[in-house]
Amino acid sequence: MSDAEHHEGTRRDFLYYATAGAGTVVAGAAIWPLVNQMNPSADVQALSSIRVDISGIEPGTQLTVKWLGKPVFIRRRVEEEITAARDVDLSDLIDNNDRNANKPDLDAADENRSLSEDGEWLVMIGVCTHLGCVPIGDGAGDFGGWFCPCHGSHYDTSGRIRRGPAPENLPVPIAAFTDEQTIQLG
Ligand code: FES
Repeated sequence: MSDAEHHEGTRRDFLYYATAGAGTVVAGAAIWPLVNQMNPSADVQALSSIRVDISGIEPGTQLTVKWLGKPVFIRRRVEEEITAARDVDLSDLIDNNDRNANKPDLDAADENRSLSEDGEWLVMIGVCTHLGCVPIGDGAGDFGGWFCPCHGSHYDTSGRIRRGPAPENLPVPIAAFTDEQTIQLG
């Protein structure tokens, strides 16, 4: 590979994995100019939205993609995680706002936070709402979801803050399925 090619490869390589799952991200930058070259806003749209191929994400694992400079967790939850999230009494929550840009200001029931109705897919911005560290996933913390080691914030399997100094649930960004294998962010 030439230096130029290598450079190109690393410049585009803004995808990384929190776990060793398979999966690829398709950058809007690669798609929009091809399908809509004459649209003057294509480059703007390319910056603000990406499509993520979720076909390789195994149940019980998480893909992390970088979007608008932040990590986004895309988790394919197993039944135990969904049940644990949905069995929680909402009065036990520190933050009973769903923090979901797709359904603003509903209560924080898991049904209002998960991307798919069956609860299998959960998409969140992976930035601790305390001071901005990236929480550890894969069942970390006292509530089986995510744990932020910076100051000890525990999030449950729905990404809701349950213990520690973080004031809010992990936010759910604008996201939607474009087909069964693809989630669009933004
Ligand atoms: S930044 Fe996460 S607990 Fe402080």
